[in-house]
Amino acid sequence: MTATAESPAVGEVQAMLVTLRILRSKPEGSDDHAPGEQYWQEFQVEAHATDRVLDALHKIKWEQDGSLAFRRSCAHGVCGSDAMRINARNRLACKTLLKDLNPAKPIIVEPIKGLPVEKDLIVDMEPFFASYREIMPFLMTTGNAPTRERLQSPEERARFDDTTKCIMCAACTTSCPVFWTDGQYFGPQAIVGAHRFIFDSRDEGQWDRLEVLNDKAGVWKCRTAFNCTEACPRGIEVTKAISEVKKALTTGAI
Ligand code: FES
Repeated sequence: MTATAESPAVGEVQAMLVTLRILRSKPEGSDDHAPGEQYWQEFQVEAHATDRVLDALHKIKWEQDGSLAFRRSCAHGVCGSDAMRINARNRLACKTLLKDLNPAKPIIVEPIKGLPVEKDLIVDMEPFFASYREIMPFLMTTGNAPTRERLQSPEERARFDDTTKCIMCAACTTSCPVFWTDGQYFGPQAIVGAHRFIFDSRDEGQWDRLEVLNDKAGVWKCRTAFNCTEACPRGIEVTKAISEVKKALTTGAI
């Protein structure tokens, strides 16, 4: 069958016009906007329902406005660099299909919340990484290095398997209402990062990490809103991990 304006060929997906409404800002400002002032700008792009939001953003950047700023690297949900707020929910642009967003309506794209905006969809990730560093995200052991690998049973590995999936995109932390309003809270990702080591049978620094999380900026700030669990693009049960850390602190059992 030959494609016509009315009938696409078998297997051909028809293109459509999609509107993206993007919250922008420029540190240097412009004739119309003060430095750092946020404003909305709409773009229309031709796209397919199976395209991702990242594809639409690329089209805008490459064909309409090269100044549009956003982070991305792997484009396949691995590096964690393109978390943004899409239709009021934190998601990875590279994992979000247009057809899952009702592309007949404008798609609202904003930077993730709670971190300083640098330009357009790019935020300063340093406060987020600073919290991660606080929980000492590396294996801590005492004594001499072993002469062979540190053995671990499948059951022991399963204990922290979920939290090893974190790609540090910050979708969880920047969806947390406590993080938005409390400048001190470490946020869900730092607790997930700590969980990964606290429940690792090979690690001996669990009580050092728990002490950090017992701080007023730590785990007790969590109000179990579950936003973090909903936002995680890796499907990590973030709230459950936080509860396990709280339980370890109250019972003293790991
Ligand atoms: S670009 Fe790497 S996770 Fe989306």
